[in-house]
Amino acid sequence: MFLLHGLLQCPWDLYGLLKLAAVLLGCLWWLRKPRRLPPGPINWPLLGNFLSLTQDEPMLLKSWARQYGDVFMYHVGSRAVVVLNGYRTIHQALVKQAEDFSSRPYMPITAENSQRKGVIHVPYGPFWKQHRKSTLLKMREIGVDKPVLDQKIAMEGQSLVQEITKKEGIPFDMTKLIQTAVSNIISTMLCGTRYEYDHPGFQRFISNVALNFKFSRLSMLPNHYPWTKWVPGLNTEFNRTLECNKEIREHIREHLVEHETSFDPDNIRDFMDAFLNEIRHQDDEAATVNKEQLVQVIRDMFVAGIENIATALRWALLYSVLYPDIQARVQEEIDHVLGRNGTPTMADRKKMPFTEATIEEVLRYATVAPLTVDHATSRDTSLNGYYIPKDTLVQVNLWSVHHDPETWPEPETFDPTRFLNDEGQFQKKAENIPFSLGRRICLGERMARAELLLFYITLLQHFHFKLPEGAARPSEKGLFGITYNPVDFDIVAVPRFSDMCT
Ligand code: HEM
Repeated sequence: MFLLHGLLQCPWDLYGLLKLAAVLLGCLWWLRKPRRLPPGPINWPLLGNFLSLTQDEPMLLKSWARQYGDVFMYHVGSRAVVVLNGYRTIHQALVKQAEDFSSRPYMPITAENSQRKGVIHVPYGPFWKQHRKSTLLKMREIGVDKPVLDQKIAMEGQSLVQEITKKEGIPFDMTKLIQTAVSNIISTMLCGTRYEYDHPGFQRFISNVALNFKFSRLSMLPNHYPWTKWVPGLNTEFNRTLECNKEIREHIREHLVEHETSFDPDNIRDFMDAFLNEIRHQDDEAATVNKEQLVQVIRDMFVAGIENIATALRWALLYSVLYPDIQARVQEEIDHVLGRNGTPTMADRKKMPFTEATIEEVLRYATVAPLTVDHATSRDTSLNGYYIPKDTLVQVNLWSVHHDPETWPEPETFDPTRFLNDEGQFQKKAENIPFSLGRRICLGERMARAELLLFYITLLQHFHFKLPEGAARPSEKGLFGITYNPVDFDIVAVPRFSDMCT
């Protein structure tokens, strides 16, 4: 009573109280605004969900999606990771909300490897836009979408056939030969040089590139716990990736020195020449088109352009031996269209619907890049009703899209006919997205598709592939790392025509 009386006596205090009440009401209104973070497993102090992360990460994420929905959140250390599952959600984020979901997170390992130059690991913004566009233009300039690429693949395909013929039907692992063939294509396009299959320096270069994919995300500790990069024992793999990427850059710099001395603006021979030409036309000292960026872009293209294709080709060969009827049907089509000596081109694919469907099914079933490259949000945003703050690490689970039973009847069955229409013609499906979607979609898709199809045709045109006599059937399930790899397997390549034997 006394208080109320006092307040009424003192108009200034009443005014202050009203102000306070208004602020409180404002806060309440603001808190009322739904800022629901995505649900997810319990976030344990310090560790987050680190101990739950298994090698089979895409499968674990798919099972969490069943529990928490297509957008959920888990934690590694103090870092929140939002996972996107299912075609509709991924399309909404990467295509419809592309401005929000097209960045890259800051990761200590990739930051040290790339100095945030190049294309792959650069955050969304003017620098990335400029260099993605100019990289695409240079790829076109050197003919990645023209028959010149088909010719290069055809020539390399012949060298690969010769190397396999040397094995004389003895069981062997195809990994090295396939990696070398694919590396020769990208090396010719980028730096104008191909190497023999036993060139020790090039083999070391290929191993260095492959090493970028060997480590599991789990083993990339310094990305989530930066202090571990100074702890002996915990930093071994981190130091090894730095070392091998240094060697990759040295290999590219050697080509650069040679290219600068022989450069002729009227004869642009490859990607490196096209880049040097662009540097020549810069008059701005602070321009970001410079030699360091050249080295990093080429490093990105080598790393992105070898392992994914080589892995997909190994899957294609594995399924060919596991499903001999599919192999026979592809060979029938090849024989009909090309005969034994015809050279395949991308134009032939229209006449080979089953072969094209087989490669498409390999890309779906095996999903060689199951979690794309990590994305990040470039501003505060929301998705499926959940609030996702700026700079959140976002994982895009392509595996969940490619193995969704609502889209693909019996998703765990390898069946190329799902990509054929009633007339037996090849039919693309929007939900098959092995190269991802949106602004960050794979920059080398055209090149990858050409290599996959033309190398596969060349191999099956010349050889019948089978498992070694008495060998156990290799598992159809692979090993998850950065890429999804088949288990190691030996293969026997039997020449289809007797005059091919050495
Ligand atoms: C079967 C082969 C390939 C597959 C399955 C594949 C798949 C992918 C995927 C899933 C991404 C991540 C997209 C995202 O972040 O959402 C990507 C990015 C990228 N790929 Fe590929 N890729 C293949 C071959 C290639 C080749 C041959 C090249 C180069 C010649 C290449 C260059 C790149 C680059 C530069 C990026 C980063 C794009 C950016 O951040 O803007 N890829 N690829």
